[in-house]
Amino acid sequence: MSTDSREVILGVGAGIAAYKSADLLRRLQDRGYLVTVVPTPSSLNFVGAATWEALSGRPAHTQVWENVHEVAHISLAQKSGYFIIAPATADLIARISVGRADDLLTNLVLASDVPKMIVPAMHPNMWNDPATKLNVETLRSRGFIVLEPDTGRLTGKDSGQGRFPEVSRIVTEFDEMTGNKQDFLGRKILITAGGTREAVDPVRFIGNRSSGKQGIALARSAQLRGAEVSLIAANMDSSSLDGISIINVESARDMQEALQNEFASCDVLIMCAAVADARPTAKLSQKIKKAFFTSIELEANPDLLAELSSQKSHQVMIGFAAETNDHIESARSKLKAKSLDIIYVNDVSGGAIFGKDVTHGTILLRNGEEIALKEVSKDALADLLLDYAIRQLG
Ligand code: C5P
Repeated sequence: MSTDSREVILGVGAGIAAYKSADLLRRLQDRGYLVTVVPTPSSLNFVGAATWEALSGRPAHTQVWENVHEVAHISLAQKSGYFIIAPATADLIARISVGRADDLLTNLVLASDVPKMIVPAMHPNMWNDPATKLNVETLRSRGFIVLEPDTGRLTGKDSGQGRFPEVSRIVTEFDEMTGNKQDFLGRKILITAGGTREAVDPVRFIGNRSSGKQGIALARSAQLRGAEVSLIAANMDSSSLDGISIINVESARDMQEALQNEFASCDVLIMCAAVADARPTAKLSQKIKKAFFTSIELEANPDLLAELSSQKSHQVMIGFAAETNDHIESARSKLKAKSLDIIYVNDVSGGAIFGKDVTHGTILLRNGEEIALKEVSKDALADLLLDYAIRQLG
């Protein structure tokens, strides 16, 4: 199993600052991370599993003895791209520094070799104790990023260095560790994804094979890069997306209405959805009986992207195309006809790409540049398109 850079383990130690990690969890989710919380058993005295489960939408286990058949400490360690332990107590730091594995969290630490951040919080006397100092040094020498606690008032009357850092600082340091560019901070990205459905009658529809996977990859990438993301989702599963505004639509005309509401305020529009070119003319409230179901009369749908191009002010416009032949030529003419900045043409000959995690095709830019992509993941294509979009935005 390969690691997923969006999957994060948030380990929670038994300090009063555990309640602040609830906010940290939210801020990580806002950035597009999918977070699994692993509390130490004694930390549940401060914040219970129910809180972590409700906020993360995932189980919050503490022991390797739960769900033994899933070998959770190995599978979770294998899929997670990053680790953050906040708050880390003196005891937890000591256990990790000597390689103990006496609860699920410490098992995971040992089983995973991804970048790890430790956010200590404890009384200044404990932080300054030579044993803790040595343990922190050991962890740093092994590549752990151990944050310096803040200085100030502690839970009791004392003050000194040991406070849990501000969540904003933790998130900034986390971004630095992950190397995530925040180049879309303050920008709004509007993405359409999936495939529209045009009703033939109340039971049947004309649809297409678009799964919405590329749109999800784009939404997550944009979110990880700091953008405010809205996704107009046509007949697809968007349940894996947290912190993204989702507008569900069915037909091209529903999508047109949603786009009209959202377009003016966005900086980048990515029309990834496969929009039906035509719809049945008849609006039927009753199912067509079998004997009469022999042909469907169609009328053209509006070209949503071309329509929006004529309303554009500052927006960068990105289109997608799916072609089985003459890819480049038709992409060149669509780029012009729809006044786009960028178009990506998928080579879908032989049933490729729909529903898959990888794609191949060509990116065409308004300045005439053409970038052929042999086989890339939809995540990688999303990042690449956003690189070109930010270049265009300036
Ligand atoms: O269907 P076509 O190849 O022209 O699609 C190219 C681009 O135009 C895609 O980004 C698609 O979302 C968009 N499109 C649209 N309205 C349509 C058909 C396609 O906005 N009616």
